[in-house]
Amino acid sequence: MNNKITGVIFDLDGVIVSTDNCHYLGWKQMADEESIYFDRQINERLRGVSRMESLEIILEKAEKSYSQQEKDAMAQRKNAYYVKLIGSLTADDILPGAMNVLNLLKANEIKIAIGSSSKNTPIILKQIGLDHTFDAIADGNHITNSKPDPEVFLLAAKLLGLAPANCLVVEDADAGVQAAIAGNMRVLGVGSAAQNEKADFTAADLSKIDFATILE
Ligand code: BG6
Ligand code: MG
Repeated sequence: MNNKITGVIFDLDGVIVSTDNCHYLGWKQMADEESIYFDRQINERLRGVSRMESLEIILEKAEKSYSQQEKDAMAQRKNAYYVKLIGSLTADDILPGAMNVLNLLKANEIKIAIGSSSKNTPIILKQIGLDHTFDAIADGNHITNSKPDPEVFLLAAKLLGLAPANCLVVEDADAGVQAAIAGNMRVLGVGSAAQNEKADFTAADLSKIDFATILE
């Protein structure tokens, strides 16, 4: 079977745009209000993980247990803080190299998609001016199982009309690298996943890799 890469599926947070600090500040405010210990190291564990699963990780440090209703309210509160913060994102928050890679792929008629766990994907893409850029968008609003389950990437491939074997995933989370592999896709690890030995390709960020060589 021909396994040439004809589609690239990008994770959003940490690959296309830097939202790390907004997620951190949103969770931090909620955690402080509840007197739950939370720091940037714990925040690293939330990379690629869905909102409710992130909350469960934060609650490992809680001194009491919370009902489902209380948990839903806490996640909603964090999201309200987060949505306020991402309201300040602009095209300047697009990560280094991302625009060049997107333009190169378009010029080579390679299809491009987003595969993100975030339910805020549409808001973020609009904020940074990339809401009409991708051929397909699969995000947290369309899936039931988040990374490391491959569901979001399989959906993105399906929306592009491509077989997983013809897709490359770009990810900054180890959970996302795992998801791509589980979906039978090749994967480029960047940022926090730049040291991931399971990735087929790695780079510190998208400005540090000759993308054309991956497509050969
Ligand atoms: C991922 C982030 O892209 O989206 C995670 O890496 C985040 O940190 C997840 O928890 C869900 O985001 P949201 O915007 O739906 O709360
Ligand atoms: Mg990410």
